[in-house]
This record gives sequence, C-alpha cells and structure tokens, in this order.
Amino acid sequence: MSIISKDISKAVALLNAEDIVAIPTETVYGLAGNIYSEKAITSIFETKKRPFFNPLIVHIPSIDQLPNIVAYIPEKAQLLAEAFWPGPITLVLKKLDTIPDLITGGKDTVAVRVPNHPTILKLLNQLDFPLAAPSANPFSSISPTTAEHVETYFIDSIKMVLDGGHCTSGIESTIIGFENDEPIIYRLGSTALEDIEAVAGKVKIKNTKEVSPDAPGMLARHYAPKTQTILTDDIINVIKRQGNKRIGVIVFNTKLKNPNIISQIILSETRNMAEAASKLYDALHQLDKQHLDVIIAEQFPDYGLGKSINDRLTRATKS
Ligand code: TXA
Ligand code: MG
Repeated sequence: MSIISKDISKAVALLNAEDIVAIPTETVYGLAGNIYSEKAITSIFETKKRPFFNPLIVHIPSIDQLPNIVAYIPEKAQLLAEAFWPGPITLVLKKLDTIPDLITGGKDTVAVRVPNHPTILKLLNQLDFPLAAPSANPFSSISPTTAEHVETYFIDSIKMVLDGGHCTSGIESTIIGFENDEPIIYRLGSTALEDIEAVAGKVKIKNTKEVSPDAPGMLARHYAPKTQTILTDDIINVIKRQGNKRIGVIVFNTKLKNPNIISQIILSETRNMAEAASKLYDALHQLDKQHLDVIIAEQFPDYGLGKSINDRLTRATKS
C-alpha cells in the first residue's frame, strides 16, 4: 500500500506523536521530526543511516520565529533572511541553549530556514514546534524531488510521505555561515551566488577541502547514483570513447545522436537554468533505474544556478 498522502492533519498527528514524516519543500523532500523530541530526531538519523555528527536544518514558518532558535543575528544575516525567506537559503547562526545538541551535532551553531512551499508552511503553522528535516534520502544517495522518490527509498521504514508534487527548485538550499559577521557559503544551492551577492556584497565560498566536518553536504561523494557517472565539457568525444557501453546521457539543451545512447534526458530545451535545476535529480533517479553501464552528464555554464548544478554533478561522479 502506498504511504503517499495529501492529508496534512494526518502528518500533524504523527509529528505530535513524536513520529517522523517525509515532507515537501521547494528544494527537495525532507524527512521531518519535532526538533525537541529525542525520539523523533534519533529516528531521522537511523532511517537515513546518517552519522550523528552531521547536523540537521531547522525549518520554521516565518522569520518572526528566528529569535526562538538563534542567540545572535548578524546584520547581513538579517538582510539575507528578509530578502530570501521564505526560500532556499539556510543560515548557520549561533544557537540558543534550548536547541538540542542532537540537532547540531554538538556544535554551538544551528542551521535554519523558512521553506517556500505551501504544504510545509501550512503544516508548520499547525505545529507547536519547528521541524528538523534533512533531505529524505539514505545518506549520500540522490536527493528526492517527488513523493514517489521518497516512497521508493523508505516505504518499509516510515509511515507517511506528505505529497506536495514535484519540487520546483529541485536542488538543496544554499547554506551560508558567518565568520566575524561576514557571510561565507558552505554549500552552493538553489539560490544563485550572484543573487546573494546583490544583497550581501562579495561572499566567500568555503573551500571544500577544509570544510567536510562543518557541512557534510559538501562531502566529495554525495547526491550520487549507483551507476558510474561522468561529468564532462567534451561530451561528444567522451561518448565516442565508451566503446559498446550502454550509455545514459544528461544534456542541457542539445540532443545528441549515438547508437550507444540508450536513454537521453534534456534538462531545458530553452536553456533555462532554473528549469534544468528542477529536473536534475529526477533525471539521475530515472537513469539510475535503467541498468546502464555509465551515465554521462554535460558540464553547465559556470555561473548562476549552473555553478550549483555543476557542484552536484561533480559530487555525483565521485566513487
Ligand atoms: O534544501 C534543503 O536544505 C533541504 C530541505 C529538506 O530543506 N535539506 C537538506 O538537509 O538539504 P541536509 O541535512 O541533507 O543537508 C543539510 C546540510 C548538511 O550538509 C549539514 O552538514 C549542514 O547542512 N549543516 C547543518 N547544520 C550545520 C551547522 N551548524 N554548521 C554547518 N553545517 C551545517
Ligand atoms: Mg542531504
């Protein structure tokens, strides 16, 4: 029997009973629980097989609740929250003592955002507590952008996926921390770097190599299909070099011709990066089901959301 349902009151009941529920957001589906319930939070980590040191994002229904979560809001954090919430920006700020260590992996900072999806906003407004929600996928596999993706992963381990349709942004939120009150990007994501800089001025991107314990979303291998995956800026020649392998291809807008291409997904015929981002994970899910020998993806232009897409595709290629 399917665990997918549109019944918000059922999700409310489960969450009030310290259970966990998969929920839609504009970026990806999350696996959600009451931030103050040790039972629910432990169950999130166990269901995902996620190490406990890897902290969770707290989801609140409005910016007004930020002072219930964090101890201090730098000026540029306030500006970014006002400009982008509800929306795909997560701020990492000094936490209040009332935020459990289980949420933050023992750190003194907490990640928080206001998601932009009518279903989760309705849900949050009917609860007396915020929701911790990592992406609803087993640790390091492809994030889910439809209720069906989540069901495939967790049909035997959770009771409900709250259906909110296809996620409109399609890759995770951009995560921003602060050092000496200046913003620094921990994870590229659904809000383009240029849009952030228009609000906050020049922003540094944390070097992946120095980051891993801070934001495991930046771990080299993450968001990865089981099928070997290659990212290239020379897709035609890379395809030619595969011999007789059964190939799956992900391209931005141009259809390729080669007899070894079994399956080909065009992310945006009009070269719209937002559309491409929204379809990226579904393309990886679809190709990964087809028992191909290799998935080959075309590198995106390195600006705007193209930068975030390239980041995810790079992590998908690591073994
Ligand atoms: O779009 C999103 O952000 C989705 C939806 C469901 O909101 N959530 C998501 O959560 O991507 P998750 O857990 O898959 O990724 C959260 C990332 C992790 O890499 C984690 O390490 C980082 O946020 N993070 C959380 N708290 C942190 C903290 N205090 N300091 C540094 N990084 C933190
Ligand atoms: Mg994740």
